[in-house]
Amino acid sequence: MMLGLAPFILFYAGSTLSRSSYNTKQGVPLNQPVPFSHKHHVRELGIDCRFCHPSVEESGTAGIPPTETCMSCHSQIWTNSPILEPVRKSFETGEPIKFANGDKGWNLVNKVPEFVYFNHSIHIDRGIACNQCHGPVQEMHITFKGKPFAMAWCLECHREPEKFIYADPANTDMTPREQVFDLYRKIQAGDPLTAREKDIERGGMGARKKDERLTEEQLEKFYRLKKKQLEDCWICHR
Ligand code: HEC
Ligand code: HEC
Ligand code: HEC
Ligand code: HEC
Ligand code: HEC
Repeated sequence: MMLGLAPFILFYAGSTLSRSSYNTKQGVPLNQPVPFSHKHHVRELGIDCRFCHPSVEESGTAGIPPTETCMSCHSQIWTNSPILEPVRKSFETGEPIKFANGDKGWNLVNKVPEFVYFNHSIHIDRGIACNQCHGPVQEMHITFKGKPFAMAWCLECHREPEKFIYADPANTDMTPREQVFDLYRKIQAGDPLTAREKDIERGGMGARKKDERLTEEQLEKFYRLKKKQLEDCWICHR
C-alpha cells in the first residue's frame, strides 16, 4: 500500500498551488452566464435530472448540458428574454456559453482534486440519491455546493453504506437506480414522503436508525456491494 501511494503523495505535494480552483465554498452560489434555476426547472416544471444530465447513469461524469438541450425548449419559450441572450448566442455561433466579458461558462461548483477518482454511475447504481451528495438541488435558484467533499465525508459512508443507501421499501420491484429517480418524481408530484425521504429532500444524508439498516445479505444480493474494499486508499486514489 505504501509503495502504491508514493507517486500520489508526490503528485499531491506538487498540486497544492492550484488547490483553490476546486475549493469552492459549500453553500456559496457561483456567478453564471445565465441565472439557471434548478428550482424552476426541476421543482416547478418537473423535468427529470437525466434530461439534462443523461450521462450520470452510465458514466463517471454527470456533465453540464450543451446549449442544444436548453434550446429544445427555449427556441419556443421566452425567445426574446434578455437573460437568455447568452444561450441564443451560443446556439448561433456553436461556441460554449459565455459571460458578457467573454469568459467561458458554466462555472463548476463541485470538483474534487485531480488525485481523487470519482465515478457517478456506481453510486446511482447502488441507490445513492443526488441530494445526499449535492444538497437540496431541486430548491436551488442558483446552484451551490451542497456538501464538503472532504475525505472524511466520503469515508463516513464508505465505512457504513448500510446506514445511507436510499431504499424505498414500497418500491422493491424497482432497481436501486430507478428508486433514486422515482424519489424526484415523488418530490415533483408532491406525493407523501417518509421522514427519511424528507430528510434527503432537504439535502440531508437520510441516515438510518440501527434497526433500519440494510443487512449484509441485502447489501451483497440486491446492491452487489463489496463493502470490504470500500475504505481502501486505492479505491479513491488510483
Ligand atoms: C433543464 C436542465 C437541467 C435539469 C432538469 C437538471 N439540471 Fe442540473 N444543471 C443544469 C445546468 C445548466 C447546470 C450548470 C449551471 C449550474 O450550475 O446551475 C447544472 C448543474 C448541476 C449541478 C452542479 C454542477 C457543478 O457545477 O458542479 C448539480 C449537482 C446538478 N446540476 C444536479 C442536478 C440534479 C440532481 C437534477 C435533478 C434533480 C438536475 N441537476 C436537473 C441543468 C439541469
Ligand atoms: C423542458 C423545457 C425546458 C428546458 C429543456 C429548459 N428550459 Fe428554461 N424554462 C422553461 C420554461 C417553461 C420556463 C419558464 C417560463 C415561465 O414560467 O415563466 C423557463 C425559464 C427559464 C429561465 C428564466 C426563468 C427562471 O427563473 O429560471 C432561464 C434563465 C432558463 N429557463 C434557462 C434555461 C437554460 C440555461 C436551459 C438549459 C440548460 C433551460 N432553461 C432548459 C423550459 C425549459
Ligand atoms: C456519492 C456522491 C454523489 C452522488 C450520489 C452524485 N454526485 Fe454528482 N458529483 C459528486 C462529486 C464528488 C462531483 C465532483 C466530481 C469531480 O470533480 O470529478 C460531482 C459532480 C457533479 C456534476 C458536475 C459535472 C461533473 O460531471 O463533474 C454534476 C452535473 C452532478 N454531479 C450531477 C449529479 C446528479 C444529477 C446526480 C444524481 C443522478 C449526482 N450528481 C449524484 C458526487 C455525487
Ligand atoms: C452516501 C454514501 C456514499 C458517499 C457519500 C460516497 N460514496 Fe463512494 N461509494 C458508495 C457505494 C455504496 C459504492 C459502491 C461500492 C460497491 O458496490 O462495491 C461506492 C463506490 C465508490 C468508488 C468505486 C468506483 C468503482 O468504479 O469501483 C469510488 C471511487 C468512490 N465510491 C469514491 C467516492 C468519493 C471520492 C466520495 C466523496 C467525494 C464518495 N465516494 C462518497 C457510497 C458512497
Ligand atoms: C472514499 C474515497 C477516499 C478513500 C477511500 C481515501 N481517500 Fe484520501 N482523499 C479523498 C478525497 C475526496 C480527498 C480530497 C479532500 C479535499 O479536497 O479536501 C482526499 C485527500 C487525501 C490526501 C490529501 C490531504 C487531504 O486531506 O486533503 C491524502 C494524503 C489522502 N487522501 C490519503 C489517503 C489514504 C492514505 C487513504 C487510505 C487509508 C485514503 N486517502 C483513502 C477520498 C478518499
